[in-house]
Amino acid sequence: METQKSIGSVPGTTASFYTIDATRIPGFEGILEQSRLLSRIPEGYHPDHFHKQLDDPEYARNRDEVYHLPDTRAMLEREAREHFENRLPGLKKTLFNKPFKPQQRKSPIKECDGYLAIVSEKHIAPLRQAVEGFFGGPCTRVGDFWYPAGGYRSWHTNNYDVHGWEMFLVDVDVPQGSYFQYIDPATGAWVKVPDKPGMINIFKVDPKNHFWHSIVSENANRWSQGFRIPDNWIERLL
Ligand SMILES: [Fe+2]
Repeated sequence: METQKSIGSVPGTTASFYTIDATRIPGFEGILEQSRLLSRIPEGYHPDHFHKQLDDPEYARNRDEVYHLPDTRAMLEREAREHFENRLPGLKKTLFNKPFKPQQRKSPIKECDGYLAIVSEKHIAPLRQAVEGFFGGPCTRVGDFWYPAGGYRSWHTNNYDVHGWEMFLVDVDVPQGSYFQYIDPATGAWVKVPDKPGMINIFKVDPKNHFWHSIVSENANRWSQGFRIPDNWIERLL
């Protein structure tokens, strides 16, 4: 295992991943404050509901993937399939069912295998505005997640997001009770990055150089919010 890169190793490198203690970044206080406000169990959701999944043998089998190197070919196909299955029903309605009326989501929370995605734009808007203020340009949301203890996100590449740099703010109620892991595209090394409150992970989504990553929570509630950030982010952070 390699140790994670620190902020001191950033300038001039072509690395695809950086993890930074954001509590030490001047001007970042407002972003962390907004992020911390989202560090709670989503309203209307009871953790018992999630805990039931943990007893399911199929859940355990799926989760076990995160303890092995990714089967990149099969997992890339799965990521593509999931992406298009999510998008195509909406597209069909738009094209063929007239007049088109957007369907109201019943809940702002999407239950996924191992985590929950909060899909409400309103939920993340104050944080997005703070991030945009810092970087001085549009920063679209790419994720707003809660991983309960025992949660996970299987290996994937984010290849269907807009390509470029993404930043995830991370908060946890048990420091190092969860971790982000990735395969370094340059070296093939499998790297684990323990989660701590107030850290940010920044990585590049590049279709020519897949950034395989996954999340594992052993015993922490883990919250993360992700944004597409400008390509020149490094000038603003360092
Ligand atoms: Fe991801």
